[in-house]
Amino acid sequence: MTQNLRDRFADAPIVEDADDRPANPTDNTLFTEILDRRLSRRQALRGLGAAAATAGLASTMTSTLAMRPAAAMPGPALSFTELAHGVDANLHVAQGYRADVVIRWGDMVMGDAPAFDPMALSAAGQGRQFGYNNDFIGYFPLPAGSDNAGHGLLVVNHEYTNAELMFPGIRKKTAARQVTAEQAAIEIEAHGCSVIEVRKEGGTWRVVENSPYARRITGTTPIRLVGPAAGHERLQTRRDATGRLVLGTINNCAGGKTPWGTVMIAEENFSFYFGGGAGTMPDAAAYARYGVSRKSRYAWWKHIDRFNVEKEPNEPNRFGWMVEFDPYDPTAIPVKRTALGRFKHEGASATVNADGRLVVYSGDDQRFEYLYKFVSNGRYKPQQRAENAALLDSGTLFVARFSAGGKLRWLPLVFGAGPLTPENGFDSQGDVLIETRRAADLLGATPLDRPEDVEPNPTTGRVYMSLTNNSKRKADATDAVNPRGPNPFGHIIELLPPGSDGARDHAALEFDWEIFILAGNPGDARHGAQYHSKVSEDGWFAAPDNVAFDPHGRLWIATDQGRNWRKTGFADGVYACQTVGEDRALTQQILRVPIGAEACGPEFTPDGRTLFVAVQHPGADGVGPTQNFDNPATRWPDFQAGVPPRPSLVAITREDGGEIGS
Ligand code: FEO
Ligand code: CA
Ligand code: CA
Ligand code: CA
Repeated sequence: MTQNLRDRFADAPIVEDADDRPANPTDNTLFTEILDRRLSRRQALRGLGAAAATAGLASTMTSTLAMRPAAAMPGPALSFTELAHGVDANLHVAQGYRADVVIRWGDMVMGDAPAFDPMALSAAGQGRQFGYNNDFIGYFPLPAGSDNAGHGLLVVNHEYTNAELMFPGIRKKTAARQVTAEQAAIEIEAHGCSVIEVRKEGGTWRVVENSPYARRITGTTPIRLVGPAAGHERLQTRRDATGRLVLGTINNCAGGKTPWGTVMIAEENFSFYFGGGAGTMPDAAAYARYGVSRKSRYAWWKHIDRFNVEKEPNEPNRFGWMVEFDPYDPTAIPVKRTALGRFKHEGASATVNADGRLVVYSGDDQRFEYLYKFVSNGRYKPQQRAENAALLDSGTLFVARFSAGGKLRWLPLVFGAGPLTPENGFDSQGDVLIETRRAADLLGATPLDRPEDVEPNPTTGRVYMSLTNNSKRKADATDAVNPRGPNPFGHIIELLPPGSDGARDHAALEFDWEIFILAGNPGDARHGAQYHSKVSEDGWFAAPDNVAFDPHGRLWIATDQGRNWRKTGFADGVYACQTVGEDRALTQQILRVPIGAEACGPEFTPDGRTLFVAVQHPGADGVGPTQNFDNPATRWPDFQAGVPPRPSLVAITREDGGEIGS
């Protein structure tokens, strides 16, 4: 099948990712002129994939890559037999490994949830069952503060819904017209996140039933708005005159854990859910900058007034934030931390800087959007857990400007500084945060090829940013940090805060950076790919998205090609590599997800013996013209007639119980 597909799609056009129309109208310096200079220098030094390798530069590349890391030691060599590329209805894992489904869409979260019945879904039931399209996974050991690798909580995001796979008779293209009020209510309850208690028994992970920690947070859960923008008049609505209490969180993509054991869940493509508005929208320019338009992908605005921008024009301003809550306290009210800015947050990675300040990295995942970091004013206090949450309310949000000399400047988004003044429509820090994107435009931030996960390697302090792809970047609009146009395969940038490995200053205003991997096929010179020279035919990938580090600091990359799997001819998966040492950037695949799915949320237990992976939207895309409830591309994981595919969380373990990858 794989070969057939490869033949069939070898010259397929790059598929437009309809999920991601650019909304950035600015022309923030595409450094074309410096690109040539920088790329030619780098190519000469290290080679770029096959083109350079065939030109006899392979040995130069390998030796240069091997020489670069001076201080950090690599983890143990990756020892698994890499999985072959391919695409079919099943999930595959490397030989000697197991992949067990832990929980599926519709399974019980709350003890009184109804059993899953795809022909009898209800909003009330869905609000107590596992939601749809699992993405971020955070493992929180039990008891809190321990490093227990066999018993803990999993916080799992539910990013969005595929109505055409959830309900009979819905077509993807017309779902926004077809979905009924009852189905919309089910969809809202299928969003948000789940907290489940899990325990490893006899080598197998099981959900603990009737757990006191079990929780569903959905699109209707009351959530507080806090920080500098809370209460702002642009956050006030008919239902909430205070501007401090929102119903729900939606499109929770990736997220992150705080050092004090709370979780952050990101609000990404919030704009898709709003619609309506007959004439000119109030705040139309601000809406447009976030892609909020009269045309919605969902039917919610027709059935629920607050998603109709005509009826509740400020509601979109109450989404696009970072939500934090304590998974160990099922009664805790989640909070939207406005100090971290409003954009299409992919996720959030928090790290405690050497001086005790908290630094949170977050990408804005849309074509030509930016990379941000937040630096707290206060310092982390390990002994005072409750006090630490305030770190997320007071600090400075920065946006990144990359330059061709391998430097990155962090520009502060502070009201009154530079152009962020009343002359430009900013009257407070609240305004700056509500319109984070426009503020960043004015500062001259660098538009990137869709920043997904941005995560520091805990062993070195180097930071890895996945730029998943950008089909809209023109060949003449490339720059040093986005060197290919169009960029269908994506790349990974390595950010180097000042200092040496293990002692880097994440709060610094200037970083260095390098290209770590240019994804695509290194055997096809047209791709201009860059990896370790020894990457195999099965070791290359496209569309890096979520990343995770194992306890040895090795990098694990999950991919999300969307419909572009037709272009590579293989399904998404999880790939691993060293970030330092001789095998730096030598990727190999350990897991492949079923057709139509993306791999999300890789998360290790503290002992490195379990890797949790979220299998999102299996069957959402296939070889035939349409995939829907009645005719899905796969029925993974149940494979039962009449049961649609179910987004599910899987636990990867080794058959001999050993460490993953070692
Ligand atoms: Fe929801 Fe950026 O992926
Ligand atoms: Ca993602
Ligand atoms: Ca991650
Ligand atoms: Ca993605």
